[in-house]
Amino acid sequence: MTSPDALPPPPSRAARLIGLGSWLPLRQITNTELCSRLDTSAEWIQARIGITTRHVADPATATSDMAVEAGLRAMKSAEVEHVDALLLATTTPDHPVPSTAPTVAHRLGLRQVPAFDVAAGCSGFVYATSVAAALIQSGTAHTVLVVGAETMSAIIDPADRSTAPIFGDGAGAVVLEAGRAGEPGTLGPVAWGSDGEHAGAIYVPEGGSRRSPSPVTGAEAGRYVHMQGNVVLRHAVRHMSQVARDAAAAAGWAVRDIDRLIVHQANARISAAVADDLGIPPEGVPSNIARVGNTSAASIPLLLAHATADGRLTAGQRVLVAAFGAGFTWAATTLVWPRGLQALT
Ligand code: COA
Repeated sequence: MTSPDALPPPPSRAARLIGLGSWLPLRQITNTELCSRLDTSAEWIQARIGITTRHVADPATATSDMAVEAGLRAMKSAEVEHVDALLLATTTPDHPVPSTAPTVAHRLGLRQVPAFDVAAGCSGFVYATSVAAALIQSGTAHTVLVVGAETMSAIIDPADRSTAPIFGDGAGAVVLEAGRAGEPGTLGPVAWGSDGEHAGAIYVPEGGSRRSPSPVTGAEAGRYVHMQGNVVLRHAVRHMSQVARDAAAAAGWAVRDIDRLIVHQANARISAAVADDLGIPPEGVPSNIARVGNTSAASIPLLLAHATADGRLTAGQRVLVAAFGAGFTWAATTLVWPRGLQALT
């Protein structure tokens, strides 16, 4: 067996961010509307989660529909008409079979490119981006479209006050292209991990191979997300803080070098606690949770797009991206924000 030290140095080829797009369904559910049917209050949701409103897909809209919209915008932003592969991060595929990515690729006119789903909960987009970066680094692909899209409303019990206020629907996408390691826009090393011991902390009991769908309705319905919110909250803060430190170190950055922390929009209190742990001031931590909620795998690309569109992410900033989600899973990476990148939202 070859020792790692005897291997050649990492390639100088790296994945560079060249396109960014996002899409949100038109319909919004405000806290006030939620309170009319749930035992909660707008003040509680605002203070404990930091959300004012969330977008929700209409019943005719599925994850692939939103993924296509975001993908189109990212490709337009990148000024490309073709990519070599498509990765779709989602926990809410259109169907259990087949995976949703080939449908998205087909509808984007990407004839017969390799396309597959990446399921890693709310960390899915950073996982998928890192896999895409590895495909580019290895020379397997030159240009890759990575989409994060979720129809969380399809798996959230509208009558469950511990989950219904949190989640929203939407999609975001990036185009990555081969570039030279170290140039602005190229992704640094990924730091990532998982801990299946806590698989039950956020899960959908039925519909997989463990338990088939049952006709049970109401709070016990197995087709909805069941979540131990406070367990998730504790682990999310700990793991995102640590994985952010690990990704910064792998990039050769000190934590104080980080200009912008793009943290998964799970709960405003989680983002604030991670930023506080890392010593990053509030102006360095863009957020859009107030208006989109927790959109799971779509959260990071939606925030990248929104923060670019409104000028909170600008060329030359050192950006650290960190996510945490069901599984548990976590992941983080770095990049220097590139010049001339336009987000189409
Ligand atoms: N309105 C009013 N009260 C609520 C409520 C709501 N919408 N949801 C829960 N509560 C109540 C609970 O019933 C509990 O009451 P009790 O003390 O009488 O038992 C109380 O608030 C505290 O519950 P707890 O779960 O400890 O609150 P919390 O401060 O942890 O906040 C979450 C709950 C769900 C907002 C929070 O845990 C969270 O955001 N977790 C992370 C979720 C997440 O991001 N998941 C996605 C994966 S990244």
